[in-house]
Parts: sequence; structure tokens; C-alpha cells
Amino acid sequence: MLFPDYRPRRMRQNETLRRMIRETVLTVDDLILPLFAIEGKGIKNPIPSMPGHYQLSIDNLVKTALTAEKLGIPAIMLFGLPDKKDPLGTKAYAKDGIVQKAVKDLKNKLSDMVVITDVCLCQYTDHGHCGVLQGDTIDNDASLDLLAKVALSHAKAGADMVAPSDMMDGRVSEIRETLDENGLSHIPVMSYSAKYCSAYYGPFREAAHSAPQFGDRRTYQMDPSNALEAIREASMDVEEGADVIMVKPALSYLDIICRIRDEIDLPVAAYNVSGEYAMVKAAEKMGWIDGEKVMMETLTSIKRAGADMILTYFAMEAAEILRKNQ
Ligand code: PBG
Ligand code: ZN
Repeated sequence: MLFPDYRPRRMRQNETLRRMIRETVLTVDDLILPLFAIEGKGIKNPIPSMPGHYQLSIDNLVKTALTAEKLGIPAIMLFGLPDKKDPLGTKAYAKDGIVQKAVKDLKNKLSDMVVITDVCLCQYTDHGHCGVLQGDTIDNDASLDLLAKVALSHAKAGADMVAPSDMMDGRVSEIRETLDENGLSHIPVMSYSAKYCSAYYGPFREAAHSAPQFGDRRTYQMDPSNALEAIREASMDVEEGADVIMVKPALSYLDIICRIRDEIDLPVAAYNVSGEYAMVKAAEKMGWIDGEKVMMETLTSIKRAGADMILTYFAMEAAEILRKNQ
């Protein structure tokens, strides 16, 4: 197929032809909206680095979720901000914890939206790490039991799916076993399998008050330089019983999404993280880019790389545009 016999431009002449040969089509079914729950009533605290996003008390959280459901967004990913932190993150697995309460209300008010909960300790520990400490280091195996307790308490409250984001070794099997032993074998696990130690999480840590109080997360989150290791992490999670494999962040890691898509036959999710959102919003505000076009191009590229699900702070805006274009 060489010029002049083949002319790729022939099939690009007008929108109808382009539509006919389009390989990747983003739909609202691909989107998952992350939301932040906080204690209190009537609270809607704007998150400065994430315009359009808020820390929401449960009443407002339910309203937002209902709007998302009306737009056709199939799922939300729920993060909680507790009223108290301690070394063991006990509020993460408390029956009256913020996520547990929010899930109950959400499941009462929503019709069939899927409520996924983020399972981690960092918002709940006073040191801000995703596992418990032994001196100054993170104790992997001692954290597993607590993470399983978090997942179990979420599922008992009514969560439809649990998503461990801590990056401790062995947590997927620990969570899977605990759910199964408690009659919750129908609850899927979405594993943050290839979660990189990324500076793109900055705005999220401001939103969720989850920054580590000393050191960093390099002993548990992945080194951005590694790709084969992502395959090993994902393969382990498959063996341990994960139902969905996640890559995070998305944009600097499109190659990882693509490789995991090729190697693993489970559904793949990608997390278009807070910093990726903030950069688009900031450049749009400066008048330097067309924010809406960049958003749609970004989401389409994540799907083209191989993601079946995209966790994104753009979910509402993108869903509105997709609906208009229908
Ligand atoms: C913590 C967690 C993080 C995100 C989701 N869960 C950040 C971190 O590891 O510090 C990041 C999400 C985002 O940046 O949008 N377990
Ligand atoms: Zn964490």
C-alpha cells in the first residue's frame, strides 16, 4: 500500500467517512466518577486544584451521585475523609465510618448505579501512609488484616465493588478470602495493580488529606521506570482473584495500559488522576488550550490504549458532551 495507489486521505474527506472508519468510540459506559465524602451536613467544600470537585457531606454526595446516574454514568469511586485519624486508621473499618455511612445512603437512593469504594488506610492514619508502621517502615503483613477489614466493612455496608489502592503485597487474596468467608463471594475486587509512585497525585492528597507525614510512598508504589514489573503485579493480582486490573496514573502510563491489555484477559481500568485533570483545567483557564477538546482527546486516548473503564474527574462533563452528541 504505497502512494499514489493508496491515499489515506481518501477516507478522511468528510465526517461521515471518518465516522465509518473510527476505531475507538468513547461512551458514557466507560466512565467512573470519583467522589469525596466528608462528615457533616450541607457541606460542599471546593477543592482549589480540582475545579468542579468538592468534599461533599453525605446529603450533597447523594445529590451529585444522582445527577451522575441521570447522565448515564454507570459507577462512582468513593473516597472518605474521616473526622479522626490514628496510627492504625481505625476509622477506615469502623461501622460508622464515613464511607460506610455514605455507601448505605447511596445504595438507598440510587437505582442501579455501581458504588465502588477505595480501600486504603492513608486518609485514616495519622502518619498518612497506606499501611501500618513498624518503627519508620511499613509493615506489609500487619497491614493485610486491616485492609481486609476495610473491604469487608465496605461490602457489609452495601458497596458493590471494592478497590484496594494501598499496593501492599498479597492484599487481593487476603481481601478475596475475607469476603468469601463472610458470604460476600459475589463482590468483585478492582485492584489498583500497577499503581505508580507519581507526582500526579498532588491535588488528590490536598482533596483527601492523605499526604504522607514523613517520607514518601516509594517502598510500596511502583517505580515509574518499570514496565515488566507492572505485568508481574497484574499477573499476581489475577492469581489472587482480582476481577478488574487497574493502571494508575493513565496518561504517562498509556504503554502500561496497552501491555496489560495484551497480556491479561481481565477487564482493565485506568485512572486519569487528579494532576492530569488539574493540568488541563489550569491550561484551559489560562486560555492556552481548548479544555473540552483536550478532555475528549485524553479520554479517547486512554480507551484506545486498551482501557475498558476510565476513572476520571471529567466524567460528568464528558457524559454531558457524549449525551449532546448522541
Ligand atoms: C491513596 C490514593 C491516591 C489516589 C487514590 N488513592 C493517592 C496516593 O497514592 O497518594 C490518587 C488519585 C488521584 O490522584 O486522583 N491510596
Ligand atoms: Zn493509600
